[in-house]
Amino acid sequence: MKKLIIVLTVLAGLSSCKNQDFDVDATLKKAENQFSVLLDASYAENKIPRSLDEHGNIDWAKRKMDWTQGFFPGACWKLYEHTQDAKWKEGAHHFQNLFIDAKDINTTHDLGFMFYCSFGEGYKLTKNEAYKQVVIDASESLISRYDSVVGCIKSWDFGKDRWTFPVIIDNMLNLEMLFEASILTGNDKYKHIAINHANTTLKNHFRDDYSTWHVVDYNPEDGSVFKKLTHQGLHNESSWARGQSWALYGYTMCYRYTKDPKYLEQAKNIAAFVKANLPEDFVPIWDFDVKDKDIMYKDASAAAVYASAYLELYTYTKNTAYKELAENILKSLSSDAYFSEFGKNGGFILEHSVGNFPRNGEIDVSINYADYYYLEALLRLKHINEE
Ligand code: GLY
Repeated sequence: MKKLIIVLTVLAGLSSCKNQDFDVDATLKKAENQFSVLLDASYAENKIPRSLDEHGNIDWAKRKMDWTQGFFPGACWKLYEHTQDAKWKEGAHHFQNLFIDAKDINTTHDLGFMFYCSFGEGYKLTKNEAYKQVVIDASESLISRYDSVVGCIKSWDFGKDRWTFPVIIDNMLNLEMLFEASILTGNDKYKHIAINHANTTLKNHFRDDYSTWHVVDYNPEDGSVFKKLTHQGLHNESSWARGQSWALYGYTMCYRYTKDPKYLEQAKNIAAFVKANLPEDFVPIWDFDVKDKDIMYKDASAAAVYASAYLELYTYTKNTAYKELAENILKSLSSDAYFSEFGKNGGFILEHSVGNFPRNGEIDVSINYADYYYLEALLRLKHINEE
């Protein structure tokens, strides 16, 4: 009898915990307190924090062209949007200016990640004309990598021994800056390139179950596909968790700008594939196909991108399953299993992300883009709940 009472009490506790509303404001406050620690550390070094190394020390962005640089000032913009506290605006402004010169670099596709998540977010909040110009300049650099025969923006210049014209699914996120550049300038050339890129990717990057390959290598002579492979996933036919997140976020975002139903359909299909592959705690292993227990590391960054994308998808479909799933992901990321203890982990908010497992890069550590998309998702949920 006593045992039965204990079991019933635990079950009642669990179910009330499950039904409890997720307190977005309190979570944002906790995140802000933690991120203040990272802001102070970053001013002390005058560098942009990228991730934590295996010893728990902050790894700073080293190169002028580091694809992750926009996320730290971008996260500061998110906190400014939420709090209106000038310290976040000043931080965002200061740190994004550390890499402003990279806007003219045309040797990579990562310019959207770098400049839209920073200067672009800043422009939305401040209407600072100088930020707008940076977004336009970076968009010019990005479209210089477009090839009309392939119908895509080339992702990388490195790896010439492995591919000829590589396009990675991650590139979908860079299109957001191009859609915005057309709105900012009134010139549709950026948007047309974004649409062509999205269409070519839709045609070639997805398997029948709507999982995505990481890399598609094109023949620039005629636009045909040479091969499909991976760079950061487990193997060429596996589903790299963050790759699926870029696909889900990318097509949802393309629908935002175009209202083309085929993008919404694609996003819904990707959403179903991801949902079917999420584990019990809603945070994926870094690749859905990992079976070896020794390398089963979680990727909180992919989960944060999913949450943000599912919330945007909910706004177009009003399918509450997407919102519930996003809430479950956010609850999990906000639990002690993923959320750093105050003052620990250098001030990064989330633990347990994976950057590039096959190259032994940033495995099971805090990474700045996980925090950026987590904050974005929390703010999206807050706005949805307030509607
Ligand atoms: N290249 C972006 C990523 O690692 O997800």
